[in-house]
Parts: sequence; structure tokens; C-alpha cells
Amino acid sequence: MRILITGANGQLGKAFEFYLEQLSDAMPYEVSLATSKDLDITESAKLSEYFAKQSPDVVVNCAAYTKVDQAETEIDKAHLVNEKGVENLAEQCVKHNALLVHISTDYVFNGEAEEAYPENWATDPIGVYGKSKLAGEEKIRSILTKSVIIRTSWLYGRFGHNFLKTMMRLGQERDSLNVVNDQIGCPTFTEDLVKAIFKIIEQKDKIQENVLVHFSNSGICSWYDFARLIMQESASNCAVHPIPSSAYPTPAKRPSFSLLSNQKIQKLFGVECPQWETSAKKCITYLKQNNRSKKNTNMLNQINTEKIVDIAKKAGAAILEIYERDFEVDMKEDKSPLTEADKKSNEVIVQHLQEQYPDIPILSEETKQEEYEVRKDWEYFWLVDPLDGTKEFIKRNGEFTVNIALIHQGKPVMGVIYVPVQDKVFYAKKGEGSFRIQGDETSKLEKAPLGKKIAIAASRSHLNEDTQAFVDEKRKDYEVEYISAGSSLKFCLVAEGKAHFYPRFAPTMEWDTGAGQIIAEEAGASVTIPESGEPLSYNKENLLNPYFLVQ
Ligand SMILES: NC(=O)c1ccc[n+]([C@@H]2O[C@H](COP(=O)([O-])OP(=O)(O)OC[C@H]3O[C@@H](n4cnc5c(N)ncnc54)[C@H](OP(=O)(O)O)[C@@H]3O)[C@@H](O)[C@H]2O)c1
Repeated sequence: MRILITGANGQLGKAFEFYLEQLSDAMPYEVSLATSKDLDITESAKLSEYFAKQSPDVVVNCAAYTKVDQAETEIDKAHLVNEKGVENLAEQCVKHNALLVHISTDYVFNGEAEEAYPENWATDPIGVYGKSKLAGEEKIRSILTKSVIIRTSWLYGRFGHNFLKTMMRLGQERDSLNVVNDQIGCPTFTEDLVKAIFKIIEQKDKIQENVLVHFSNSGICSWYDFARLIMQESASNCAVHPIPSSAYPTPAKRPSFSLLSNQKIQKLFGVECPQWETSAKKCITYLKQNNRSKKNTNMLNQINTEKIVDIAKKAGAAILEIYERDFEVDMKEDKSPLTEADKKSNEVIVQHLQEQYPDIPILSEETKQEEYEVRKDWEYFWLVDPLDGTKEFIKRNGEFTVNIALIHQGKPVMGVIYVPVQDKVFYAKKGEGSFRIQGDETSKLEKAPLGKKIAIAASRSHLNEDTQAFVDEKRKDYEVEYISAGSSLKFCLVAEGKAHFYPRFAPTMEWDTGAGQIIAEEAGASVTIPESGEPLSYNKENLLNPYFLVQ
């Protein structure tokens, strides 16, 4: 199937281009992207020539005149593209039996409804742009018998000019901003719309008439709500103040309510409409990462290990303050204990990491974790266990630790483990080795070679069946002794050369192992899943680790 995308230089067109690049060989269709220079939809002779040569089966029309305010004075221009251009395309589609998928807008409505607009609600545009887009829709219905018109709202994405990108920029430049809070609707991420369009194209044979559907992200908000989320997610300190539209006059009046109902598109084509906050967070993450790579920086080089050690020590001091007095113990849903110390340590770490590295998101045991849909696109993130070994803390045996790791593309690249009671630090950075600081002394760590005698980091009294089998196996070749320590400290035992193996054939979570893994790896050890031989990986949908072996 051949698909033509018009208006390929616009924000939606660019989102198509990006999507195709991501899919590369997995795209089952032959897709051509045509910019306004390649194919001007107002030039009917050139369009005719193009169709005769290329004969597309589907045309997705992203070309449009979209300057809402300027349209009030450039009425002819708006109608030339949005009405006449669309008419030209529809005529070529009839002639070549191609399916036209056309993008229209929420601005065809007057904004006076009180519930999400269904497709059959009476149109009544209040500005020239909306009128020209409606005229385009009408041309399609009068010329074609099979087509899909998709009305969408408040488009934004990583390309072109849009509200989200403007707010992110202003958030870095200004201390405060006024944003209207009496225009209600729903933002739509261009990449979600692209996916929706392909989902419809997949079902092309089902389309036997002119179909009109609405598509936006799910949920409802004002521009003010949207701006607040953008500032929050882009770690901007810019204050956002709500103002009425009357305080921000524009040449074109905007509909005050333009929420679109997604029910029909979901029912008819099974299209997904992700929640607006989830998609906006995704887009912000992409943009933040892109800004970083534009500056051609390597995040790891910017991380000062001393600062992270310092943060871990501050958290440790907060824990010790509580350790030395009475404290309460709560039970979490998973029946593991939680103390004031876990919460306090988490607060200290999160506050300092956010202050020093506002661009790097945090995944912590004690903070509500970001949805997988959002975090799966994190290139870098901090993985934090503010108090590993809460049970040891409660028993007051001193073997609890503070763990902070930096994860890059699913692998730990920096880690700090701090033992508050002993004021001992273990740290490692990828490519730089593993170290222990005790008092004034810093020592480089190296795993120990195997000799006749080996030490296994495990508690003799708590061996489960799998671990016992592992030990029995080793006993065939070596004289085995046990060495025990609190959870993440077992990685350090291997890194220090005090233990040769740490078999962990029981459940752990990602935050229990991130820092320990890089400390062991940089000391020359491996942390792998026995069945596959692959190292442990991070930011999985399920944060539970598989069983692993450190050696
Ligand atoms: N943006 C929104 O918030 C929003 C909301 C609801 C609906 N929509 C609709 O969604 C669609 C995509 O919007 P968008 O935000 O991607 O718009 P956009 O960024 O303004 O892109 C429109 C593209 O159309 C091209 N174009 C203009 N006149 C043309 C012509 N005569 N022939 C061929 N191409 C032409 C432009 O070319 P140049 O690059 O040369 O300028 C531009 O690349 C439009 O139909 C729009 O009405 C947008």
C-alpha cells in the first residue's frame, strides 16, 4: 500500500517522519512525505501530475493554513489552502480511487457546549480559521463517498511551534507567566495522533463511506493546567498565574470549550487515546533529552561523584538522628517495614538530587513511582533506596545502607552505597573503578581471584534450597566459608575481595541492586542472571529483579 503524507514540514507531518524513522524496516507500507515545496495542494495541475505518477492508495492530509489569528485578515489565503487545496486533493482521490484521511479541528465548534463534543454536534465556527477548515470538510463530503475526517484539538509535539515547547522555553527565561484558565479542552500529542491514523489505515477495507471521527488525548484541562504541568515536569521555577481570556485579547476569538468526545473513534477503530498528562510528560522527557544531546554533553561526565557521596552522607546523618532515639514502625502494603528514617532519608536525597540535577528523573523505593509509559523513555535516571535494610535498622545491628545509582539506558553507570553507622562509603563510576572511603583513607577495590578456599556472601542460617544447591556444587571444588552482611553490602564484599560469590536466589527490587551492581562490576566482578548470562537490567515494567549471581 502506498501512502502519501502532505504538509510534511508541519508539526504533525514531522511527527510522521519521526515515527517512520523509528519503525524503519517494520513499516509495512510505502510512505512518501511531501512538503509544501514538493507538493502544493493549491496547485491542481501539479497535484494531478503527482497522482498520475505515484498513484497513492491513501492520502493523509496534514497540509493546512493554521495561523489562527492571521486568518482573520488573510481570509482568502486560509480558504485557498483549507478549502480549495482540500477540494483539489479530494478530486484526485476520486480519480485515483485513493482513501483521503483529512485532519480537521475542534475550532469548527462555537465552544458553547457543556460536555465533550460528539461528531454529530452542530458546527458553528467563530473565526475564519475554523470556517475555512469546516469548508474543507464540506468539500470532502460533497466530492468523495469514502473518506476519513479526523478532528483533533490542541496539537503539540517535539517538532514545530506549539504551546508545550513555548512554555518550556519561557519556563527557563521567565520568573512568572500568565496563562488563560477559561478555555477548556484537551491537548493532543502528535505522536498519539500518528499512531491513531495508522490504526485506521490498517482497517482501510472497513471504510465504505465518509467517516467523521474525533481524536484527542483523554482527560480535560485548561491551558493554565497544561502550563502548570509543563513547568512542573520540566523542573522550572517559573510561577504560572491563571487569567481570564478577557485579559489576553487575541485577533481571533477561541472557543471557550472544545473538548472532543473520543467514543466513536475508540469504538469504530479500537484507537487508543492515552491520558493527556501521560503523553505530555513523555514529550517533555523527549525534549529535555534532546536539549541535552544538542548541547553535545555526556551526562555521566557532568556527574560529580563527590556530590552524590555528600548527598548519601546527609541522608545517613538524617537516618542516624532517628536511629539514636525511639521510632515508630509502619507496615507497607507488601508487609515490609517502613520507618520515619526511610521517609526522612528519601526526602533529603530527592531534594538534593533535584536541586543539583533538575533534568534527571528519580525512581525511589519511597516515592510514588512514575508510570511505565512515561519512565520507559528515560535515558538517564536516579535509582534510590534511601534505607536498604530497614529490618537491620529496626534490629539496630548497623548493617543498613543508603543506595543511590545512576542508570543510563537500563544499565547502572554510577553508584554510591553509604553505611551510616560505620561512616563507610563505597562508590563507583563506569570506566573509573570502584572505591571504598573509610576515615581519611580511600582504597581502590578489586575482586579476589579464586583459591582453594572461597567465601560465599550468604547467611548460613537463611539458606534457601537454590542457594544451598549452589553452595553444595561449589563444595565439590572448593573449601567454602560463609560471610554475611546486610543486603547491598554483599555486593561490596565481592568488590572488596572478601567474598567470591554472592548468589541472590530470592526476590529483590531494582533499587536494592543498582548501586551494588556498578560497584561490583567496576571492581571486576559480574552481576548476571544465571539462566541467560545477561547482566541485570533496569527500568523494566516490573521493577522486580530476576535471581542473580555476583562473582
Ligand atoms: N496545531 C493545532 O493545535 C491543531 C489543532 C487542531 C487541528 N489541527 C489541524 O492539524 C493539522 C496539522 O496541523 P499542524 O499543527 O501540523 O500544522 P502546521 O505545523 O502549521 O503544518 C501545516 C503544514 O502545512 C503546510 N502547508 C501550508 N500550505 C500548504 C499548501 N498549500 N500545500 C502544501 N502544504 C501546505 C505548511 O507548509 P510550510 O512548512 O511551508 O509552512 C506546514 O508544513 C492541520 O490540518 C490543522 O488544521 C491543528
